[in-house]
Amino acid sequence: MAKGIVVYYSRSGNTKQMAQIIAKAMNEAALPTECKSVNDVKAEDLLGYDAIVIGSPTYYGHMAGPVKQLFDDAVSFHGKLDGKVGAAFSSSANIGGGNETTVMGITEAMLIAGCIVQGDPKGDHYGPVSINKPDERVEQQCLRRGRRVAELTKRLTA
Ligand SMILES: Cc1cc2nc3c(=O)[nH]c(=O)nc-3n(C[C@H](O)[C@H](O)[C@H](O)COP(=O)(O)O)c2cc1C
Repeated sequence: MAKGIVVYYSRSGNTKQMAQIIAKAMNEAALPTECKSVNDVKAEDLLGYDAIVIGSPTYYGHMAGPVKQLFDDAVSFHGKLDGKVGAAFSSSANIGGGNETTVMGITEAMLIAGCIVQGDPKGDHYGPVSINKPDERVEQQCLRRGRRVAELTKRLTA
């Protein structure tokens, strides 16, 4: 049976909260999904999942170091994430503070790894973004993204 993982890095809890909402939506959409801090994940662990969702706070417009390290460690099995579903999300302090460039940076790494990343014509186009703590709008975006990742993954693995 297909399964998913949501991996996050978070110092003050904002990105973690987004991760938990996305994982909840994936589970509710019938894709069994774990939610883990990047500190508890080894790159090789990603091989065991059909959907990989990764979130980071925005640090200087990019993903935080521990998230980048996860991708860098994945070079040891480059090509083996090919065809898995990917998705990204980010929390930043400011509007225009670089949360979308962070999402795109994670997405770029996923594309290089061969992941399938779905855009969203109606919700946050690249992936959910939050200004600090998730509010009601962000919660809805995270739920929507989790559902869409689960639905796409189930279609591809049926
Ligand atoms: C080292 C560092 C760099 C940051 N760089 C940015 C930035 O470029 N733009 C921005 O809007 N916020 C920036 N922030 C703020 C965080 O992205 C923001 O507080 C985020 O919500 C923290 O997420 P967390 O609660 O999951 O740790 C930075 C914070 C730190 C600690």
